[in-house]
Amino acid sequence: MTAPLHPDTLAVHAGRSDLEALGVHALPIDLSTTNPLPDIERGGDSYEAMATGGRPPADGSMVYARLWNPTVARFEEALAELEHAEASVAFASGMAAMTAVILAHGPAAGKHHVVAVRPLYGGTDHLLGSGLLGVETTYCAPGEVAAAIRPDTGLVVVETPANPTLDIADIAAIVAQAGEAPVVVDNTFATPVLQNPIDLGAAMSLHSATKYLGGHGDVIAGVVACSERTAEALRRVRAVTGGLLHPLGAYLLHRGLTTLPVRMRAQQESARRVVQWLIDRPEVAEVFYPGLDGDPHGILERQMRGTGAMIAMRMQGGFAAASAVTTATELFTHAVSLGGVDSLIQHPAALTHRPVPPEARPGADVLRLSIGLENVDDLIADLERAFSALPEADAAPALLEERLHAAR
Ligand SMILES: Cc1ncc(COP(=O)(O)O)c(C=O)c1O
Repeated sequence: MTAPLHPDTLAVHAGRSDLEALGVHALPIDLSTTNPLPDIERGGDSYEAMATGGRPPADGSMVYARLWNPTVARFEEALAELEHAEASVAFASGMAAMTAVILAHGPAAGKHHVVAVRPLYGGTDHLLGSGLLGVETTYCAPGEVAAAIRPDTGLVVVETPANPTLDIADIAAIVAQAGEAPVVVDNTFATPVLQNPIDLGAAMSLHSATKYLGGHGDVIAGVVACSERTAEALRRVRAVTGGLLHPLGAYLLHRGLTTLPVRMRAQQESARRVVQWLIDRPEVAEVFYPGLDGDPHGILERQMRGTGAMIAMRMQGGFAAASAVTTATELFTHAVSLGGVDSLIQHPAALTHRPVPPEARPGADVLRLSIGLENVDDLIADLERAFSALPEADAAPALLEERLHAAR
């Protein structure tokens, strides 16, 4: 085959080119924790190669699963192809992936400063501000990246569309502002189906693979698509710190990739219908969804192939209304996480963004919806039922609202 394959085809076939020669059709799973060594010398050389971020030598051994696992490597190969990257490195969670990215570009590279564009997922925002990883973080708006860069800046972090309010940042413009500093784009919400940050100059595209890549709410994982050189640095951190992905998780993710384009398109179509419905509802003060106020700077046009299936909304009735809706929906499960086949609803200020400092935390009246694969009319009916049952006020939720304000 000479013509480049359509991403839908790649999603089904990537990482499987050797299956026929192996005589199998489904993805093989290798659960070995340790591997036979040909002899001490080649075993030792293999260990050395992988502990420093390399791949297992052809005449060597995989040695130990913390260094290399073929089931994980197969998923990494597929994801790299979908992200137009040379390589990818998978981790035990999205946060383990972000931790490795920060360590590899911060302390391990002799740099101690990170620039982070807000908003970000609460866990990422918290990790960067915690000081746990030996970096100082300057948080800024997308247009302030150049001013925030210092000689010791090792990394720029941006999320677009951002969790939870779907803010869009211009990836190419941020890369230009970052200069020498590599940019990592959290691509969790868009997935490679809708956006390829590396084509826009980003050094890394990171995913909480827990979300759309897995797609079924049964795997916690993270992955970073990048150059082979960056992959070496990340694999080294992974080998040393041990934040590796279990092969069963890698198998589920790889299988999840096959339906990713179809799921994304179907979920996006429903999300657009839900957005149209929400806009006209008196219970909703504001709807957050990419492109709702047009695309004045042409950013969506340049960097995305769709607007995705995540929605946020500000409730007219404030926290009391937000709280009541989360417990009244029946099809939308009141739960954190996102990107699966079933719809979820959650309150970012109380949950996913709770550790974010008050000035950057979403409002107490904001709810986030992850639209799944249910029939969209059923989803809208579920929201309508929940809206129609909204109380005037409620003593118990008011108490939590006071606590949230107190924490601000
Ligand atoms: C945008 C985004 N990035 C990263 C993470 C962290 O991923 P994980 O929960 O897999 O560690 C999340 C989790 O919700 C997320 O929403």
